Amino acid sequence: MSRSQLGDDQQTATAEPRRFVAPDEVVVGRGAVTEIGPRMVDRGSRALIVTTEGGRERHGERVRESLKAAGLETVVYDAVTPDPTVATVEAGVDRYRTADCDCLVALGGGSPIDAAKAVAVLAGEGGAIREYATDRAGYEAVDGPLPPLGVVNTTAGTGSEATRSIVVTDEATATKFLVVATAVVPAVAVEDPELVCSLPPSHTAFTGIDAVTHAVEAYVSTEAWALSDAPARAAIRRLAEWLPVAWTDGDNLGAREATLVGQLQAGQAFTNASVALVHGMARPLGARLKLPHGLANAVLLPTVVDYSTPGAPERYAEVTRLLGAADRDTPDQDAADQAADALTSLCESVSVFGYLEEFGTVPDRATFAEWTSGMAKDALASGSPANNPRIPDQETIERLYLDVYDGVLAPHSA
Ligand SMILES: [Fe+2]
Repeated sequence: MSRSQLGDDQQTATAEPRRFVAPDEVVVGRGAVTEIGPRMVDRGSRALIVTTEGGRERHGERVRESLKAAGLETVVYDAVTPDPTVATVEAGVDRYRTADCDCLVALGGGSPIDAAKAVAVLAGEGGAIREYATDRAGYEAVDGPLPPLGVVNTTAGTGSEATRSIVVTDEATATKFLVVATAVVPAVAVEDPELVCSLPPSHTAFTGIDAVTHAVEAYVSTEAWALSDAPARAAIRRLAEWLPVAWTDGDNLGAREATLVGQLQAGQAFTNASVALVHGMARPLGARLKLPHGLANAVLLPTVVDYSTPGAPERYAEVTRLLGAADRDTPDQDAADQAADALTSLCESVSVFGYLEEFGTVPDRATFAEWTSGMAKDALASGSPANNPRIPDQETIERLYLDVYDGVLAPHSA
């Protein structure tokens, strides 16, 4: 019996010392939103609340009340839109400076959290956010320390409250760029299931499958290690059990809390390992088809897993077991061969492919085929495919895109 069949984390010696990064404090549970003030009071006195209009309307008052009760003054910046742009970030830091703030509170999901992280970078270091992007400055280009950032998370989710990553849209080129630095990891993360209940089923599905993808990719990544394996495994198991419940019954606070914890663990896993080929291919696909990030991951996930399994069969066997689709008696190769189907079943349990018509723009096959070369080039340039257990070349990625078109996109769109 192999180590994986015993369910052990597959410990391998690290080549050099590695650091595990995480928020300083995480508060989880019903009513946790009231903790944002007490957790921030020693970190600042005047907070810029970075959010969307909807976020402010739904939860802004409770956040302000908590901060106020703890003795902090607040200023609201609610101009964040989905996929925050360079202009959004620059307007945010203007607000931060003119209002003389000394800390930030992000209220919302991935977009406000990433916008707040980017505002913190500019408030702390100056310059333009594009200068810190991985394609220009590499990883860890932000020295810090930055103004303290607290997060009140309202989706489950990107896990951005636990990660080193910021995704910003460059409106000039209609592309997204990444900033990755330990200095941007928030100081405080608040996970309150009551704030997630208003999330509609479509977004519960998208964000939930995004989190599943984070956990699976972190677990199979060539960058995986003991301290990323533990949250990755826990996240896969927890999300497989509770995401379908949260999708079916959005008011189920237990299920909402479980998915919040699962996506937080998935964020911890990938920020301390990496994402891989699914995310590498999802960014260009999402941009072309105007798909929400999680939906782009979902349509790619089974096909990419099927391709990748021979690169790490023991890892994928464990993924299948953690999803509940095989047990300890199933031999590794058999369990690994079932990983793609098990992930398809999880996607189908939240009808994620059924949202393609409403949320995506799928072109005819000839047009899509023309796009595959550019998309594959962008996927490779992101660096994520290099962390995959099986590393594809340009031609292979083009073929995978076409397989996804024929297998998922065409059958599920008009
Ligand atoms: Fe993601």
